[in-house]
Amino acid sequence: MDILQSIHERRSVGKVRPDPVPRALVEELLEAARWAPTHHRTEPWRFWVFSGKGRDRLAEAFAAAGGDKERNKPYRAPVVVAVGCVPQPAADNPQEELLATGAAMQNLLLAAQAKGLAAIWRSGAMAHGPGVRTLLGLAEKDTLVGFVYLGFPDPDVTVLPGRRSSVEERTVWYE
Ligand SMILES: Cc1cc2nc3c(=O)[nH]c(=O)nc-3n(C[C@H](O)[C@H](O)[C@H](O)COP(=O)(O)O)c2cc1C
Repeated sequence: MDILQSIHERRSVGKVRPDPVPRALVEELLEAARWAPTHHRTEPWRFWVFSGKGRDRLAEAFAAAGGDKERNKPYRAPVVVAVGCVPQPAADNPQEELLATGAAMQNLLLAAQAKGLAAIWRSGAMAHGPGVRTLLGLAEKDTLVGFVYLGFPDPDVTVLPGRRSSVEERTVWYE
């Protein structure tokens, strides 16, 4: 698919089929994610993939921080990828490390779409809670940027159309 068409058509999809996603497919998405731009090539992104029974660990971490209400959340998709930013000593500025990791997230989402998967970037309180940070071994300086929930699309789920302001509303030109 043309990259511009793909960017326009990508939508967040919160409900997917429960069928497992082959590991090789997830590896292809991570392969795309790691080609994001990175100042000084610090590659600050880190990925933790939770799938199948592996999601139990994430569920426990969610429950530890947020109680039973949070425990079920990792089971909303067959694969949940936690994406973290670990700023490297060579970085001028930790904010740039975060930006690079955000770009990796977008690559991951677009790769998922290209491979026929549905995905959503989720954050929520649990992303910042101690349960998940401990599970992933994040240090004080590190950030859990978010979770990508992935699965095969459910044809019965209605995906909301995209909505954005016009370029004109967000742009100033000097020509
Ligand atoms: C940093 C970030 C955090 C997000 N966290 C959530 C979230 O916790 N829950 C959720 O439903 N969507 C989350 N989203 C997805 C947005 O809701 C979604 O991108 C927005 O509704 C626009 O829809 P679209 O992606 O289909 O264009 C997040 C997106 C970003 C960039």
